[in-house]
Amino acid sequence: MNRKVTVVGGAGNVGATVARGVAEKQLADVVVIDIADKKAAGVALDILEACPVYGSDARVMGSGDYADSANSDIVVVTSGVPRKPGMSRDDLLNVNYKIMQQVTEQVVKYSPNCIIIPVSNPLDAMAQAVLKLSKFPRERVIGMAGVLDSARMRSFIAKELNVSVENIHAFVLGGHGDTMVPLPRYSTVAGIPITDLLSKEAIDRISARTAKGGLEITELVGTSAWYAPGASVVEMIEAILLDKKKILPCSVYLQGEYGVQNLFVGVPCKLGARGLEQIIQITLTPEEDAAFKKSAASVKELVDVIGV
Ligand code: LAC
Repeated sequence: MNRKVTVVGGAGNVGATVARGVAEKQLADVVVIDIADKKAAGVALDILEACPVYGSDARVMGSGDYADSANSDIVVVTSGVPRKPGMSRDDLLNVNYKIMQQVTEQVVKYSPNCIIIPVSNPLDAMAQAVLKLSKFPRERVIGMAGVLDSARMRSFIAKELNVSVENIHAFVLGGHGDTMVPLPRYSTVAGIPITDLLSKEAIDRISARTAKGGLEITELVGTSAWYAPGASVVEMIEAILLDKKKILPCSVYLQGEYGVQNLFVGVPCKLGARGLEQIIQITLTPEEDAAFKKSAASVKELVDVIGV
């Protein structure tokens, strides 16, 4: 491959799922970096040994040394403490901010031109920390959250209507927290808004389940989700490396869009070779706008605590 993707924290569940997905789709060579360096080497070797079965010639290696990540096109940051049952994403703020400081310094040192995809929670605040610490332009720091939240909503709509997930688009905006904003008006089945197909009761139930989707998994598994988060990161990587100009909901640094200044919040973004290539602005109803602003305010509270 002539592309390189590094996954920091790659020995963890989410990171390993990203590494596996990139290798399986043969999108790039993959470097798994983790402070658990032996585990990183082992996870990478296991994925490498799966590649003949995938039919993939991706080269996969793992270590604890950031020098191995040098000149990556994309660096995914999954490092950090995951949620335990009863914890909110926000409970992780201070400890994961310290980890972002250490990780970002190394990423910038070895891959000064990369695109960074932060995944650690609380997502929007950690993405803002990475942007500020890296001093990268906003086009090159794109947080993963909306693809995951929308995927959850899509799966719930598919189940409710007994239709293919491929027919379903779901729109979830705002911060990746309890205040996220599922937008039923823009969520469609074969182009038909779900507001024409489902009762208000069903839509409210699906929206509430989407907003609590991470918690539902954490309570069942005992730690945070990894298959759906990992797959969501891979979709973003594919959009960037293949320059697809794909519109996906991502957490990016708003500078006036949607009436929000200097804050990471989830909005529809066009992803391509340059990273964030465009923020798509849609008109929100007064109720949707109020919910979006409330969600942004909850992100702002967190970034103020860590001062980024
Ligand atoms: C979730 C965690 C990863 O939503 O934020 O599953």
